[in-house]
Amino acid sequence: APKSIIAPSILSADFADLGAECSRTMEQGADWLHVDIMDGHFVPNITFGPPVVAKIRKHVERPTESHGRGTFDCHMMIAEPKKWVKEFKSAGCDLYCFHYEAAINSTAAESPEAKSDLKTSPRELIRYIHEQGMLAGIAIKPATKVDVLFDVLDSHDKAERPDMVLVMTVEPGFGGQKFMASELPKVQELRKRYPGLNIEVDGGLGPATIDQAADAGANVIVAGSAVFGAKDPAEVISRLRDAVDK
Ligand code: DX5
Ligand code: ZN
Repeated sequence: APKSIIAPSILSADFADLGAECSRTMEQGADWLHVDIMDGHFVPNITFGPPVVAKIRKHVERPTESHGRGTFDCHMMIAEPKKWVKEFKSAGCDLYCFHYEAAINSTAAESPEAKSDLKTSPRELIRYIHEQGMLAGIAIKPATKVDVLFDVLDSHDKAERPDMVLVMTVEPGFGGQKFMASELPKVQELRKRYPGLNIEVDGGLGPATIDQAADAGANVIVAGSAVFGAKDPAEVISRLRDAVDK
C-alpha cells in the first residue's frame, strides 16, 4: 500500500482561531489538512465556504511538485459538487473530493438549462476537476456499495480516474461519531483491486480504531476529535502514522 498520509479534520478545531489551529496541526506532524465543507442539503449541518478556506490557506504552506505536505483535502459534502469546483480552486483547494451520491443526484438547479449544466457523471466531474488543476477524490457514504467506484477506477483515461477514494466510516455530517467497522470490507476490496490507490477513511478514527483500518488497507487517515481533542496531538498523529506504515 502507498505510504501514510495523516489528514487532521479541522471540523474539530476552534473555529474562532482557525489559522493558528491549522498551522499548529501542521507543526505537530500532519501531512494534509482535511477541510469539511457542508451545505445543509447533502448533510444536515453547515460549516464554511470558499472565503474561509482562502483565509486559512495563508496560514499553511502550499504543497509543491515534490511533496504533498500542506495539501488542502476538501471533503465536499454538498449537493452540487460541479458548481463549486472553480471557486474552491481559487480559494486554495488542492484536492476536491466530491460525493458519488451528490454527483449522480444533482437536481437543485432552478432552470432546465442550468440543470443540464450541473448534471454530471462522476467521470466528467473528475475530468473537470483535473482540468481546473486540482487532484480529484470520490467519496461514498456507508449506504453506497463500493462497486459504484469501479467504473472510474477502471477508466483507461487518466484524466477520468480519481487520485483518491474516500470510504466514509461514519454517516457524514458531524465529528465525534462512532467508527463503523462494517465499512472496512469496502477498503479491503479496493486495496486488493488497486494496490497503489490512495484510500482514505474518515469518521471515528483514532488510536482505538486505526489498526483495523490500516490492516484493511487504508493509507489516508482523517481524524478530527482524536487529534484536536488530544492532550498530545503530535503523539496521536505519529501513532496513526506508525499503524499505517508498520
Ligand atoms: C464527518 C466529517 C469528518 C469528521 C470526522 O462528516 O467528514 O471529517 O470531521 O470527525 P471524527 O474524526 O471526530 O470522527
Ligand atoms: Zn470529512
